[in-house]
Amino acid sequence: MINAKISAFGCYVPPGVLTNQDLEKLVDTNDEWILSRTGIHTRHIAAPDVATSDLAFEAARICLAQRGMDAKDLDAILVSTVTPDMFFPSTACIVQNRLGATGAWGFDISAACSSFVYGLTVGANLIRGGTHKRVLVIGADTMSRIIDYTDRATCILFGDGAGAFLLEEGDGYVAFHNEIDGSGGEALKMPAGGSRMPSSHETVDHRLHYVKQEGQAVFKYAVRKMEEASLAVIRKAGLQPSDIKVLIPHQANMRIIQATAERLGLGADRVIINIDKYGNTTAGTIPLATRDAVEQGKLKQGDYVLFVTVGAGFTVGANIWRWSI
Ligand code: UT7
Repeated sequence: MINAKISAFGCYVPPGVLTNQDLEKLVDTNDEWILSRTGIHTRHIAAPDVATSDLAFEAARICLAQRGMDAKDLDAILVSTVTPDMFFPSTACIVQNRLGATGAWGFDISAACSSFVYGLTVGANLIRGGTHKRVLVIGADTMSRIIDYTDRATCILFGDGAGAFLLEEGDGYVAFHNEIDGSGGEALKMPAGGSRMPSSHETVDHRLHYVKQEGQAVFKYAVRKMEEASLAVIRKAGLQPSDIKVLIPHQANMRIIQATAERLGLGADRVIINIDKYGNTTAGTIPLATRDAVEQGKLKQGDYVLFVTVGAGFTVGANIWRWSI
């Protein structure tokens, strides 16, 4: 049977940096609170003229260059994002055009923080079905565009960034366990801008175009589901937690990551944490953490790697792959 592997990756963060000290000047917060409650030191923020497709394009370019592949050889481009350049055309179309990927079709995936893992699941199965040979999965978000920098509960959390994985035929994909639970929709959302509360409607308060979060409710759900989804996918793969060489979790809060690792019995050397540098980049966190894992020599060819995430929706995603690069 045909299987899929990850054959290249590329990441991009915009150069601008927002520190905890910068945030102290915007809202009633302090470095000690942010660090102890979230683990975040800094986040990267895109310049005003930079949009999600720009971040996605840079990540895609670096990824294709790593493989030495021409964009014309891509069969599909999936862009995971909650901050598309616009509702339509999709960010996948914009990136396809800039890359010159004339042989590709594609679409955007909307699953908030779980969307990159969902993209991996979809991309892997396009290849496993035998109809696609090269699928580019991009996770990209410009969260700074939908954050209220007067709301201390959310503005400290998020940053901008992107990453891309190239999927090709090979023996890498092992198993997935994804879930959605729409009953959690009220806990994390951007209320306006869609058909329910259109931006054009004069009565819509501009503050409804920003991320709203019930932090504790999301935190509790995330801690429970990160463990449950991890154990479910490990079981589906016929593995034990100890077989997982590297855990690459969504970077939403260092305390969520540490609780997940502890519950799975994985020591700090097997868990990738880079939330300190980038904050929560939504669809960007997993590829950015993967790049760090490889650069730090923690993720090597043949290792089982577990990607796990929880996000707005609620959405839950877990994939196990054998690292192939
Ligand atoms: O990626 C999508 C999924 N998202 C997540 O997984 C995020 C999950 N949630 C969280 O990470 C955490 O709930 C937060 C980091 C958002 C908040 O941490 P917390 O430990 O749950 O704090 P809290 O909301 O319970 O607030 C505790 C206190 C409150 O003050 P009082 O009521 O105890 O006086 C807040 O008003 O901390 C206050 N607070 C702050 N203080 C200083 C809230 N934000 C801040 C702030 N600086 N930035």
